[in-house]
Order: sequence, then structure tokens, then C-alpha cells
Amino acid sequence: MKFDTPALDNPIDRTRVIGRPTDRIDGPAKVTGTAPYAYERNDVAPNAAYGWIVGTGISTGRIVRIHTKEAEAARGVLAVVTYENAGKLAKAKAHTARMLAGPDVQHYDQAVALVVAETFEQARAAAKLVRVEYAPNKGRFDLAAEKENAIKKDSQVGPADTATGDFPAAFARAAVTVDATYSTPDQSQSMMEPHATIAAWNGDELSLWTSNQMIAWAVRDTAETLLIAPEKIHVSSPYIGGGFGAKLWVRADAIMAALGARAAKRPVKVALSRPQIPNNTTHRPATIQRVRIGAGKDGRIDAIAHESWSGDLPDGDIETAAFQTRLLYGGANRMTAHRLATLHLGEGNAMRAPGEAVGHLALEVAMDELAEKLGIDPVQLRILNDIQHDPEKGPERPFSSRKLVECLTVGAERFGWAKRNPKPGQVRDGDWLVGMGVASAFRNSPTQDSAARVGVDAKGLITVETDMTDIGTGSYTIIAQTAAELMGVPIERITVKLGDSKAPVSSGSGGQWGANSSTSGVYAACMKLRGELAKKAGFNVNEAVFEDGQIRAGGRNISLGEAAGPDGLTVEDKIEFGDMQKKFAQASFGAHFVEVGVNAVTGETRVRRMSGVFAAGRILNPKAARSQVIGAMTMGVGAALMEELVVDKRFGYFVNHDLAEYHIPVHADIPNQEVHFLEELDDKSSPMKAKGVGELGICGAGAAVANAIYNATGVRLRDYPLTLDKVLEGLPSIV
Ligand code: MOS
Repeated sequence: MKFDTPALDNPIDRTRVIGRPTDRIDGPAKVTGTAPYAYERNDVAPNAAYGWIVGTGISTGRIVRIHTKEAEAARGVLAVVTYENAGKLAKAKAHTARMLAGPDVQHYDQAVALVVAETFEQARAAAKLVRVEYAPNKGRFDLAAEKENAIKKDSQVGPADTATGDFPAAFARAAVTVDATYSTPDQSQSMMEPHATIAAWNGDELSLWTSNQMIAWAVRDTAETLLIAPEKIHVSSPYIGGGFGAKLWVRADAIMAALGARAAKRPVKVALSRPQIPNNTTHRPATIQRVRIGAGKDGRIDAIAHESWSGDLPDGDIETAAFQTRLLYGGANRMTAHRLATLHLGEGNAMRAPGEAVGHLALEVAMDELAEKLGIDPVQLRILNDIQHDPEKGPERPFSSRKLVECLTVGAERFGWAKRNPKPGQVRDGDWLVGMGVASAFRNSPTQDSAARVGVDAKGLITVETDMTDIGTGSYTIIAQTAAELMGVPIERITVKLGDSKAPVSSGSGGQWGANSSTSGVYAACMKLRGELAKKAGFNVNEAVFEDGQIRAGGRNISLGEAAGPDGLTVEDKIEFGDMQKKFAQASFGAHFVEVGVNAVTGETRVRRMSGVFAAGRILNPKAARSQVIGAMTMGVGAALMEELVVDKRFGYFVNHDLAEYHIPVHADIPNQEVHFLEELDDKSSPMKAKGVGELGICGAGAAVANAIYNATGVRLRDYPLTLDKVLEGLPSIV
């Protein structure tokens, strides 16, 4: 099914199942521990041996010699795989670093060996016996120091630079200006389930039971790395304990498990231990961002510029931190720019709302700074600068839908924004200085072609198969809801099978495109199935109503099972998105409101309450979407207050590589959190009329915290995370 004109009224609009706050259909399996995660798939490979990855001890340089004899002789050891015996390997195009080091080393804790043994303990113990001699190089690890050497490089997802009008002239003549520089640290996705894979060979065919967001990419990248045909690779990833971008691509667990299984002639299971993850896999790169905004006294922006510097390994990508600034506010004169420095700190890559999550931490604080200089309420300033079309491309590219103003006004009302004292440092509650902050939320809402297979059997039971993944987001449930809605049956009659490369290729889970795209693929397949069932039953397709497990038309009705016939009926189709993303700017929007208390004695910040209002097209399952946004807002608080991979700038690695030292917020950190969705249907986005919501909630949440800290204390912080030592430095002595 092509989607290249706006959606008309369609069967999804009935909303008997879709749009309802539906419990997870996979919930019981998950809470009873019967949903098998990658490392627990003992059913597929009961005789699996255990692999333990040995990581490099230097960040950049060469391996001089690897001593494996002692490890090989250790009890239970079946194989030790290194670059010397692994066979020919290549770097997949999607990988910046190779999954196995040797002879050159590209980053700290890059896999240098896999020890395979009968038991987990034997593998781990023998891994300590692998000795590696290195010739280290002097690496570069400090973004601030390398900023001047950064180069312009376009991203895979868009150009590095854009410019419209004459920014320098407009900024120079602006009545009120802000020119501020912000920094954000390296961050770790820190999903619950570590990277894990069981690999098994059957002749020249490879099976990977793994934990991965993008099944088709996993097949492709494994094929490219191992130099085998993609047809020979089977990937299965039905349950995933979170990804946040860390599992968009296969990592060393999968590749090393495959190599280990080949060497040991046994299935092999490999999980990365938590301390290996930050350095071995990917991270969100640190940024330095300069934002300049010039406005008239009336608050209207005339000049806006956002420049971002980040680092990555050679051949890496930029962190697209200025991308939201291209679209969020009006202003005739504008520019954005990204520069990339070479850093030898592991692969910088996607983490929830790549670019936009950290971009908001700068832009939305700059807006707060501008509001203060103008003496305009920060909510009003954002409303004043709303724009209903792409400000770079002009009115010929309108937004498909955009309710930022409504999010801000409804949010301000719900939160009680009117009670905020605009003068900082005025409100006190015992030892706590209390303040309120606001920020807009913007996240592009991309779409990806997505296919599905839908079958109905003689009993009228429906099965949906697609390689879509559920990374904890609720894909199983919204796909079942979509099929139930379209086929006119209760959700209990739908079986959903996900995450297998034998199924049709879906959008996968990434970039907050998964829900809208994958359900649209299911929509396409269900519409095709409806057509074929109606035809088989002798009905006019356009008149046929699918309801209560029946097909009705012209005064007749027939059950789905009967129409399908004794052998059932299965069809496959794909949603193919045309150029609607070109014609219309497609993004979802929101507004964050946060109240913090900052301890006047210790400088500690506590979030007292946060409230967000969001507009993201049709909300397919308000219960699941709310969970997504709560999680994302919480992650925004983490970015504001605590998350930071600390770089050892001498040796080039992340020091705090576990959850004891890499701090993320928990329930108790946010006692009161509200999520409210506005009614919105986006007929330009897809037949589902939905938009992305999974990453929207992180965008702006941290900036609202930063702005609330300023309102509470009068201390303006621009270097994240906003830890108490930084607050304390600026706190007036008002104990
Ligand atoms: Mo997302 S960071 O594209 O999984």
C-alpha cells in the first residue's frame, strides 16, 4: 500500500480497540518470567557453551602479541577466538569500529578475544589468563581540547549546516540578544537487559537469538561483518529488555558469539557484563553547543543560530544537536552547524532522541535566558515564536500537524504556572529554594516502510507476523489492537509474532518511528486481507463491514473463519511512505513544566513535580504511550541532574562503567509526574494518523529542570549534569 496522499476516514477511525488504554498482551509472560530474553533461550540451544569477551586494555594503538595458551589449557575451555584465528572479517558499513580488535585497537574495551568454555565461570576465569601486549598510541579524549580541530561532516540523517537569510547581520542589529555556550557529557543508554546473544551454526547457516531493535539491519550487518550471505542468517529477538538506541545495530556479543560457535563447534551464548557496556558498545557523545538568539523588544525572534561540536572515532557521525532548532521557532535569519572532532572514546551513536535530547538542553535554556532579558514570560515567548511551517523551507512546507501552542497553554493551566514568581530565588520552603521551569518538546516524527503478514484461520483466529520488535514499548499490544480494529474481532483473537527475520521486514524500533510505521504496515496487510475475504465471500469490498467476527454486506453476513475457508487465508503487504515527509514537516510536540526544590545548604536539587502535555497524533494506546513518556521524562531528569560518563583523559575510557557509579533516576526521584495527551489526528503521517511519541518526552524535560533550578536559586548553569557542586558555587550564602 502506498501512502502518498493524506489519509481519509478509514476503519481505524472507529476506535473500538485502537486508542484505548489497553493492558500489555505480553505483560503476563513478562511478569511471570516466562517471556524468554536472549540469554535465557535454553530451548533453542540446550547444549550452548559460554563465551566471555576479553576487552582491550588500551584505547588506541596496536596489539603486539596475544598469549592464549594458558587460557586454552584452563579447565573447561573449548576455544579462544582472537583476530589471529577468527578468519576473515570486515567492518559493517553501519559500524564505526570493528567488533573484534586486531592488530589495531580502536577504543578501550574493544573485544580482543572470546573465551568459550563449558560453564560461565570457566569462561570468565580463563579470560583472566589471556594476556595481551600492546603498543599504545597517544589518543585524543577531550572534546573541549579538540574543538578547534573539528571538521564539518554531514550526518547520515541530514546535512551538518543550514542557513537562511542573514544571521550575522540580524543578530548584530537585534534589540535583545542571548549568546551562551552549553555542554553535555557522554551518556550511556543503560537499558536493563545487557547485550546478549546465543549463536548456533547449522552447516553454513547462522542463527542468532539476540536482543536487537532492528532485525533486518542485524541480518545485514552480520552478513557484512562475517562475509556471508544474508540469506544464511536467521535473527530472532522476540523480547528485549530495553534498547534506547544501544541495540540498533548488532554489537560484539552477537559477532563474537557467532565466531565462538564456529570455533567451538557448539552453540555459544555471550552477554556483555554491565561494566563492559559503556566502553565496548556505544554511547551518546558529549557536546559543546553555542546558541545565539536575537529578538525585538516585542519578543519576536529575528535571528537564531545553533552550533554544536561533538566527537567520534574516525569515520564517525555528528551528534545532531541543532536539528530541532531548524524547525522549532520562527525567525527569518537562521543558521545551524555541526562540527565533528576525532576522539578515541568508543563509538558515539544513538541514544533516545539522538541530537534532539541534548539539543533541547541548550536551546530551551537559551530561550529561558532570552525571556528573562526581555521581561517576557517564558511560556509567552515560546507562543509568540510559534510557526506553522518549516522556517527554513518556507510556507510551502507546512507542518503536518503542530500543537505546540496548545501544549504550552494547556500545560501552564494544569501545572499552575501563573503562581510562578518570575524573579529567581524568592520562594522558600524550609531549607529548600523552590522554583518552576518550562521547556518546549519537539521531536521529528520519521516514518519507515514496514511490512506484515496477516492470516485468519478456519476458526476466525488471526495471526500477525512482522519482524517488528518490542523493546518494552508496547509493540505487541498496539499491533494486536490494530489488527483487532480492522478485522472486527476482540483483541483476544489476535496472536502477534514479532522479532524474527523470517517474517516480513518492518520499520523496526528506532527514532520513534516504530509505532506509527509498524502499525501502518499491519494496516496495509489487514486491508488487503479484508479485500480478499470479502471477495471470497462474494461481497462488495467497499460495502463490507467487519464487526463481531463477521463480515456483513447487502443484508448477508458470514463469519471470518467461514470466509477464510478450511485452510485459512494469509496475505502480506507493506506500507510504502511516499514523499509526505518532504511535503510536510512531521514532528510531535509537547511542553514540560517542572517544580524543583534546591537545598539552600547542600545545593542538592530535588524534583518536586513535573507535568507534561503532548500532541503526537493519534495516541494508539494511551496507557502504553503514557509509560513511554513517563520513562522519557525521567530520562530527561537524569540528563539534567546526574547522568555523566566520566572520561579518564589520560588513558581514554569511561571510568564509571556500572550502575553504581553511572547514576540514573528512579521512582523516588520524581514523586509527582503527570502526562496529558492532546487530541490530535495527523492525516499526513500515515493511515493510522499517529506520530512518534517514544522519544518526545525526553526532549525538553531536562531543560525545564535547569530552568526551574534557575528560578529557584538565580544560579544559571550551562554545564550538564547540574550536580550540587556546581549549584553550590553559585548559591548565595542564604542559610
Ligand atoms: Mo532510538 S536512539 O533511534 O533507538
